[in-house]
Amino acid sequence: MAKTYSIAIDGPAGAGKSTIAKRLAKELGYYYVDTGAIYRTVAYFLDLLGVSPKDVDGVERYIDELTINIEYDEEGLQHMIMNGMDVTNDIRTQDISQKASLVSAHGVVRGVLLDMQRDVAKAHNVIMDGRDIGTVVLPKADVKIFLTASAEVRARRRTDELLAKGHKANFDQILKEIQQRDYQDTHRELAPLKMARDSIKVDTSDLDIDGVVEAILKIVSEKIPV
Ligand code: DC
Repeated sequence: MAKTYSIAIDGPAGAGKSTIAKRLAKELGYYYVDTGAIYRTVAYFLDLLGVSPKDVDGVERYIDELTINIEYDEEGLQHMIMNGMDVTNDIRTQDISQKASLVSAHGVVRGVLLDMQRDVAKAHNVIMDGRDIGTVVLPKADVKIFLTASAEVRARRRTDELLAKGHKANFDQILKEIQQRDYQDTHRELAPLKMARDSIKVDTSDLDIDGVVEAILKIVSEKIPV
C-alpha cells in the first residue's frame, strides 16, 4: 500500500481545530477527519435510547447496536451516518457536547472508535483532529500540532458564533461549560487530552484564522512533501 501522510491536530474544545483543519485539508488535498463528531454520534445514539453517558453497563450493552459510517459530500464535508441515518447536524448541540465528553471516557467506546480512525488514516492522506490523535490514535503522524487558546478567548468565539447564527448565547454559561469539558477531557483515565512530546504548540489566542493556517502550513512544508 502506498505511503499515506497524516497530520494530527489536538487541543481543547473551541480552539478552532475544525475550522483550521478544514482549511488545511482543502489547501493540501487531504481528507479531514473530525473525530469529535464520531464521539458525538455515540453520545447522540445513547441519548436517543435514554442511556445516561455515565452508565457504564448501559453503554457497554448498547454500543454493539450502533453502526457508524463516515461519508464525504462533494465539497469534502464530513457526514456522520448513525445506523443509516445522517445525524451530522443533530450532534452539534451543547447538550451533546457535554454528553460526548462523558461518553468518551469509557474504554469500550474508545476501543471501538480507535480502529475506525486508524483505518481512515491507512487508506488516505488525512488531517485528523481530536484530543488523542498525536498521543494514541496516530502516534507516528508526520506532523503533530497542539492547537490551543485561553478558555476566555474560546468562550468568546463560541458566544459570537452562536449570536451570529441568531441563537441565544450567554458568555458566562459558555465559559463554564468549556472549563468543565476541559477538566473532563484532561482528567479522564484513558487517552486524556495532553500534548504529545513531539507536538508543536500553536496558541491561537492572538491569531486570526489566516495567520494560524499560514503558520501550520509552514510547519507542514518542512516535514511533508507538499
Ligand atoms: O471536538 P469535539 O468538541 O467535537 O469533541 C466532543 C468530545 O469528544 C470531547 O469533549 C471529548 C471527546 N473526544 C475525545 O475524547 N477524543 C477525540 N479524539 C475527540 C473527541
